[in-house]
Amino acid sequence: MRFIITDSYEAMSRSAADIIEAQINEDSPCTLGLATGSTPIGTYQFLVEDCRQGKVSFANVETYNLDEYCGLSPESPDSYHYFMNANLFDFVDIDKANTHVPEGDGSDAEASCEAYEQAIEDAGWMDLQLLGLGNNGHIGFNEPAADFPVSTHIVRLTESTIDANSRLFESADDVPREAITMGIGTIMKARKILVVANGVGKAAIVKEAFLGPVTPEVPASVLQLHPDVTVVLDREAASQL
Ligand code: GLP
Repeated sequence: MRFIITDSYEAMSRSAADIIEAQINEDSPCTLGLATGSTPIGTYQFLVEDCRQGKVSFANVETYNLDEYCGLSPESPDSYHYFMNANLFDFVDIDKANTHVPEGDGSDAEASCEAYEQAIEDAGWMDLQLLGLGNNGHIGFNEPAADFPVSTHIVRLTESTIDANSRLFESADDVPREAITMGIGTIMKARKILVVANGVGKAAIVKEAFLGPVTPEVPASVLQLHPDVTVVLDREAASQL
């Protein structure tokens, strides 16, 4: 596990964007696993700007997002599908047919999960998987649990996650209670993993996940077992390491 500790959110974002661009430029075509949340927004802004300047092209990039809320359509402004369009896909030269987000509003959620996992397997798994870190150590929406879920599945969100994510909804009551997420197994099959975390609020979980014991009670701790993980932090998130 390699740590890159940067001075600011902007520097963290720049460093993460550099790693993603190096992957795209060195390994075309390329399959990227992408994340939502506040943390990667700055990274996506750098990717958009660099694409505009011709430093990187998404023409040969295929993407799979980690997760999506159940019951929200891609057009819902609260959906992760909408987030990805608004923060990245609408502003880079990617073919939208090559962008994939789990189907949150399908009539058969179990079938949607199976189809999503199969599509990722058919794509040969991820070359590079970008991850944020939930306050309780979740990655994607893999919440603390008794074991590590293997493949894409439906998950019941914990109260702490509903509470943390309610800031992006009108009220906590509007946060969907279930989501579809890649499994820990899906994530661990990526050839490279890039974790981003910033702010003092993430300092304790960064320490617990990466220096503590590997346990499904802290889902991100499993990343200690992956052979190629880069963790990019700002000083605040790194302050307990
Ligand atoms: C959500 C997402 C995660 C993300 C986490 C952290 O729950 N499902 O993939 O990593 O939030 O979000 P933030 O970056 O806003 O702290």
